[in-house]
Amino acid sequence: MRILITGGAGFIGSNFCYYLKKKRPALQQVVLDKLTYCGNLDNLKDLRGARGFRFIRGDIADRKSVVQAMRGVEMVMHFAAESFVDRSLHQPVDFVRSNVQGTQVLLDEARRVGVKKFVQVSTDEVYGSLGARGKFTENSPLQPSSPYSASKAASDLLALSYYRSYGLPVVVTRCSNNYGPYQFPEKLIPLMISNALEGRDLPVYGKGLNVRDWIYVQDHCSALEAVLRKGKPGEVYNIGGDAEEKNIDVVRSIIKILDVSPQLIKYLPDSIRPGHDFRYAISHAKLTRQTGWQPSVSFREGIEKTVVWYLDNQPWWQKIKKRAAFKAFYKKHYKTR
Ligand code: NAD
Ligand code: TYD
Repeated sequence: MRILITGGAGFIGSNFCYYLKKKRPALQQVVLDKLTYCGNLDNLKDLRGARGFRFIRGDIADRKSVVQAMRGVEMVMHFAAESFVDRSLHQPVDFVRSNVQGTQVLLDEARRVGVKKFVQVSTDEVYGSLGARGKFTENSPLQPSSPYSASKAASDLLALSYYRSYGLPVVVTRCSNNYGPYQFPEKLIPLMISNALEGRDLPVYGKGLNVRDWIYVQDHCSALEAVLRKGKPGEVYNIGGDAEEKNIDVVRSIIKILDVSPQLIKYLPDSIRPGHDFRYAISHAKLTRQTGWQPSVSFREGIEKTVVWYLDNQPWWQKIKKRAAFKAFYKKHYKTR
């Protein structure tokens, strides 16, 4: 059996490759990844050269690359995407190309080779923002706020249309905010950990009162594996960590673990992220009912493990933060808005 993992050199994709190698060692893995600014072969260093593992550098929006990657494939786990809300506000066109057009090319080729399962890895952000109460269910309306979440909602609908129109066995998953090893240091948690270690400001949008549900990346991986085995074609499954936290509390936890000064916190006007969703909270009752899956790592445990990983792997993120392109985006986003 061979599985195609798109975006396998990114954060969740690389964690999933390791997870699957351990859990299902006989499964052949083919990774297709464009290696955008976020893709990183260092993330896969312990898998490259391993038996049954193949890496192809290519763009999911480029049919030739997809045709090559799809040979002999029976299952697809589709992670490849532009994934950062703030970048989507600066450069929406990249999100439409990779997330919408890329998904469409992939769906076409998956259909052509007749895959047995296509998992569209998506996000709870497609549901938009919640007030203080309630949780997203699979029946919540799609009300995306950012070009990122709108492009993911569009790709989810395209994927489901391939089930309805052509019978392609598509399953859509929508997960809350992930954290853990190999997350690119522009997202909240790795940015705060690495900035704190460098003695830099910790930029908090607004008053830090926005709420996210946090899931340790390995719990997301185990949920995806459960969906790969037992998810029903044409269905949507929400995945969450049962761990709602205000941003400011996340930042304070990191400050406490690292024992750095709270004076590093720098509050920025919330207008830095127009359309900033206030709260995400998700019910994973459907997935739990159908597969028995549950998140297993508490936020307290996960954040400690994550801080330790970033402490133990400083060359990994230092190399990224030294790049001219990283510095240029940082300056443009934080200093000029
Ligand atoms: P990431 O940005 O770390 O990784 C994305 C990977 O996709 C990178 O390796 C990049 O090189 C690759 N890629 C981008 N465009 C490509 C293209 N056109 N062709 C081939 N490869 C391309 O993202 P992530 O955080 O690992 O997220 C992976 C997926 O999970 C995304 O689809 C995202 O929407 C979804 N998701 C993420 C979260 C989260 O909290 N990070 C939560 C829910 C869902
Ligand atoms: P992020 O990691 O970008 O994930 P998402 O927006 O997809 O949920 O941001 C998580 C939260 O942290 C979000 O409410 C925005 C906030 N945030 C900051 O306060 N400062 C920052 O520098 C970043 C990147 C995010």
